[in-house]
Amino acid sequence: MAYTTTAFPDGFLWGASTSAYQVEGAAYEDGKKASQQDIINQNNYRERGFATAEVTSDHYHHFREDVALMAEMGLKTYRFSIAWSRVIPDGTGAVNPAGLKFYHDLIDELIAHGIEPIVTLYHYDLPWALVERYGGWISRQVVDDFEAYARLIITEFRDQVKYWTTINEQSIIVQYWTQKCYIPEEHRDNNQLRYQINHHMNLAHAIACNLVHELVPGGMVGSVIGYSPIYPLTSRAEDVMAAQNAHDLRNGYYLDIYFKGKYTDSAMAYLERHGLAPKIEPGDMELIASGTSDMLGINYYASECAKACPDDGTREMRWNGVNLTGKKGDISGFETHPGFYEMCKNPLLDTNDWDWAIDPIGLEYLLRDIWMRYGKPLMVCENGLGAFDMLEADGSVHDPYRIDYLGRHIAAMKRAMDYGVQMLAYCPWSALDLLSTSNGVKKRYGFIYVDRTDDDPRECRRYRKDSFAWYRDVIARNGAGLTL
Ligand code: BG6
Repeated sequence: MAYTTTAFPDGFLWGASTSAYQVEGAAYEDGKKASQQDIINQNNYRERGFATAEVTSDHYHHFREDVALMAEMGLKTYRFSIAWSRVIPDGTGAVNPAGLKFYHDLIDELIAHGIEPIVTLYHYDLPWALVERYGGWISRQVVDDFEAYARLIITEFRDQVKYWTTINEQSIIVQYWTQKCYIPEEHRDNNQLRYQINHHMNLAHAIACNLVHELVPGGMVGSVIGYSPIYPLTSRAEDVMAAQNAHDLRNGYYLDIYFKGKYTDSAMAYLERHGLAPKIEPGDMELIASGTSDMLGINYYASECAKACPDDGTREMRWNGVNLTGKKGDISGFETHPGFYEMCKNPLLDTNDWDWAIDPIGLEYLLRDIWMRYGKPLMVCENGLGAFDMLEADGSVHDPYRIDYLGRHIAAMKRAMDYGVQMLAYCPWSALDLLSTSNGVKKRYGFIYVDRTDDDPRECRRYRKDSFAWYRDVIARNGAGLTL
């Protein structure tokens, strides 16, 4: 029987999400210097014709208009990130007052409109100066530099920001490391470095949690994990075991750090056996265990699937079902760990144009699973449908596919809540169209259409999509009446 939602609890934070480099533009304005994403996206433009990060949605110049539109939708919260290279352009040392002012103005504007800010400290955009100086996240030096940056930001905004998230999607950074970090050519086959980078991020995350606890009375802090529940391809015991292995290495390995302060035994045993484990220095695990999380942000787009993999195959970590064109079926091979698991396509689920499985029940499943294991409040920090939207001559954008996707995911989340999961917020991706991490600007996610192409930023004029009015009504009804 179809499940229909009743109203959400009072105070539930209906929101939307973006990240700095994907939406702000003004990449070299008012003292900002390059981040690694400016460089990575310049290369993407040259190699694939995707837009650079120079203008993106020009939110830097349109933020007051954008906040007014968010308020018109009825948003109670907005989750966004701060660009480290805007506030400390060289990564360390001199602070850029104009950069800090931008975030002051944005946060003031949000609060003036009754919108609670949820701040992410780091969303893939390490200052390029730190990559040049010591290789960025590859070097342990980054942890100290992150601490200084995090202390500055948390101190600066502690009176206005209650909810803090630390590092966006460490799990996805490990999986797609050349897209999320600048990795010099000579390191790209060294898969141990993926886990070393992640270990440095675990230290940085723990430090940021401790800083929020020290500096923000009543504040709440946690990471944001990119999370896909992993289903076995069949009910054969070997496939079920492979799905558990994939879960342990791709999900549990991060969750256990955030909530238990330790690495997952099975995943660590696999990494050690294959020379992939991070180098851990004395005191590291104590620091990680001290930086406890109060909550967790979850980014959910799609579930994934795994099957058993024979011992004698070749390890493949470069790609996992990646589609760079938006033509269904145009995908790379899948991640393979011989003797542990092999990722594969789920034949039972529909996908979007980029072959991402559409699976609302996967959201209920993962929320209940994480709640059962760790028992901490959760927020959805990203959830959305990438699509080729069309701006009509009259300024309308009809996106019924997005309305369907979001409505069913909200219903799935509510059913998890009916079963006891404590949810703080729902922030779909994205408030407005922005630069995709993998597909330029033609893959759109927003409630607000931004008129530009990969080649031409035009004026970035804003238009309300059909999903804008739909989400406004969902919020006005406090989520009641949606069907799974
Ligand atoms: C998440 C990221 O992994 O997925 C976002 O946090 C990203 O930054 C989103 O934009 C969607 O992925 P993509 O590649 O379609 O932009």
